[in-house]
Amino acid sequence: MEYLIFNIGEIATLNSGDISKPLSGVEMYDREKLVLNPGNGILISNGIIKKISEEDELIEEFAPDYSNGKSDILNLVNAHGKAIIPGLVDCHTHLLWTGDRSNEMQMRQKGYSYKQISELGGGISRTVKSTRKASKEELISVGNQRLDQASLNGTTTIEAKSGYGLSVDSEIKLLQASTEINSQKCNLLPTWLGAHDFPSDKTKDEYIDELINLQLPFISDNKLAKWVDVFCEPGWYTLEQTEIIVNAAKELGLKSRLHVDEFVDSNGLTLAAELGSVSADHVGFSNLDSRAKAHASGTMQVFLPGTPYVLGKNLGDGINDCLENNWNFSLATDFNPNCQSISLPFVASLATHRLGIDPLAALVACTRNPASTLNSELKLDVGSIFEGGPADINILNSKFVDYWCQTPGVSPISQTFFSGFTV
Ligand code: NIG
Ligand code: FE
Repeated sequence: MEYLIFNIGEIATLNSGDISKPLSGVEMYDREKLVLNPGNGILISNGIIKKISEEDELIEEFAPDYSNGKSDILNLVNAHGKAIIPGLVDCHTHLLWTGDRSNEMQMRQKGYSYKQISELGGGISRTVKSTRKASKEELISVGNQRLDQASLNGTTTIEAKSGYGLSVDSEIKLLQASTEINSQKCNLLPTWLGAHDFPSDKTKDEYIDELINLQLPFISDNKLAKWVDVFCEPGWYTLEQTEIIVNAAKELGLKSRLHVDEFVDSNGLTLAAELGSVSADHVGFSNLDSRAKAHASGTMQVFLPGTPYVLGKNLGDGINDCLENNWNFSLATDFNPNCQSISLPFVASLATHRLGIDPLAALVACTRNPASTLNSELKLDVGSIFEGGPADINILNSKFVDYWCQTPGVSPISQTFFSGFTV
């Protein structure tokens, strides 16, 4: 199947330098290097971007019979002057769970903290109760509905964590469900998060023993997850417990992406850097020294501003600190029962409208940068638009690429291609 997209506005190719590497600081909003002016076309062949070049040249070479926007040789797609951005990459979601915790909002408004709500039987353990009862088929079905929403908002690659099972059988069920979701709309990459909380029917030591001796070996033997994750936070997993679990996973050949410093700075980000984690996520409260260490060790800092937003908290200075200090960072949705937005344009709107981040920098943080933490598990590098790369692209509803994160609550996308097919 060949497509030639023509009549395009700006194209955010984001393909400067070595596309497998993330960008930082001013590189993230260098329009000269990252954005093409109107007048270019994109040729897609068998799911791959075959050529990006001046529209007239492409038409002459590949659609010589062109007349009035039509050709019998290939499919012409008129972008109507609208801008194009890469398929979006969401590197942190809790995609699969069932249940409803919307009544916890009242508790938050009365002043109960996340920890207090969890001690009263709400929070993660409440979602665990409902998720354990769900069949694999139900989980696949809710997963597909959520992927539809992600796709409507331009996502073409998504990471999905387990973590609402907290037992051997139910963690496996969650990971099998993610593996069996056969989405024609995006790449789905599963992460094991058996260490999301502690189940009520075991002591902490018993559960950690189960994680290391039963869950992790099964996950690794059956290739059910690409990475492991631990909720490293005072009140959940300590630094020591996190280290033990991550090291056990390493011995099985599994790398880590960690939840750290979400509510307080416990030096979780420094630990992630020392353990060589692929990414450290939340990092809202991490100190500057940890941030510098993470950058130096190649650990991506992933900010999840949707979470402080729904918890009624300040979005923090971390994103701007990273941008000013040239430290790599990404943005992701953290879609979960508390934070039910699976829209990267919304997350980027928070960064742009509330924190003053340049829309183009926010785009790099939702595409090329998170892709650099996931590409090792994909056949072709996602996150930017380049010849030979996968045809994962979004046509916006505006001629300007900056539009992509300026319609909070409404999708900015008019059409998405995933692997060369229209979604
Ligand atoms: O990343 N903080 C840990 N896990 C999720 C929230 C889990 C939940 O509240 O169900 C997060 O925000
Ligand atoms: Fe999370």
